[in-house]
Amino acid sequence: MRKKAISIHSSRGGTGKTVIATNLAAIYAVKGVNVALLDLDFCAPSLVDVFSKGISGSVKHWLNDFLDGRCRAEQALIDVSKAYGLKGKLLLGLANPSIEAIRNMMEKSRAWEVTAVKRLFSLRSRLFDAMDVYCCILDTSPGVQYMSVNAVVSSDIAVAVATLDSLDLKGLENMLAELYDAFAKRSVVLINKVFPETRVWSSDEQTDLIGKMEKTLKHRVIGVIPCYCDVLQAKRTSLLAVDKPYHPFLRNLEEVAEKLDGIKEVDMEEQVLAE
Ligand SMILES: Nc1ncnc2c1ncn2[C@@H]1O[C@H](COP(=O)(O)OP(=O)(O)OP(=O)(O)O)[C@@H](O)[C@H]1O
Ligand SMILES: [Mg+2]
Repeated sequence: MRKKAISIHSSRGGTGKTVIATNLAAIYAVKGVNVALLDLDFCAPSLVDVFSKGISGSVKHWLNDFLDGRCRAEQALIDVSKAYGLKGKLLLGLANPSIEAIRNMMEKSRAWEVTAVKRLFSLRSRLFDAMDVYCCILDTSPGVQYMSVNAVVSSDIAVAVATLDSLDLKGLENMLAELYDAFAKRSVVLINKVFPETRVWSSDEQTDLIGKMEKTLKHRVIGVIPCYCDVLQAKRTSLLAVDKPYHPFLRNLEEVAEKLDGIKEVDMEEQVLAE
């Protein structure tokens, strides 16, 4: 498996980025792959709460501290794999949820943002070169906040998550044209919360919907995930990949993970051809 960073982004809020990012990370870690999951949603941090069961004691260093140059990469990461019984490491980089920290992040200067993106690249190198991490997943804020753009820029694959809501799709089209084409190395669309579940029940129906969406968006669609009532109602501290490993939502995400892994082969082929 080639090392890669995957950003999970969307134009509008609530499309399922965090649920997808956390479970994708857990799917890799369950298989024994070492993974890092970074909360780059500094406006509305959530991973500290999602993983509260696995975080013992108080968090000493946040990703905010690392980006501010107040701590080293290793200090800003917490391994929760033991707490969840995962085979691979699951290293969390957490955003500070205090009001002061959120306001502080919103007032950062352009110069700080430039330094922050360099630090993000250095964190990525550290994870891949020194910490044996194979996959780094970045959960982001919706829209075009600097840190979300930084996440897209510093990832190998940007996954744009959207629902079939017309405003979501409009926002997605704008982002594909103005953000991904300019900044992302590779970008793919993931349609989530498709209602009703039965609409994408069979693989033929999924293929039909993917084909239709690809034609409309003129972009690769990597999967369609139904809206599952129990996922919508589940406690946010419940990690499906651990608590309900046979849930169909995970089968959908595993297929997405396989396709994301497949992208590397295309890259490698292109590299070989270029050589
Ligand atoms: N496929 C799905 N089926 C049902 N519910 C889902 C699905 N995906 C996500 N959800 C639910 O949608 C809600 C929003 O999900 P989530 O917080 O992951 O979105 P988000 O894009 O990270 O939001 P934000 O932009 O606010 O960070 C949650 O209640 C989550 O459980
Ligand atoms: Mg989120």
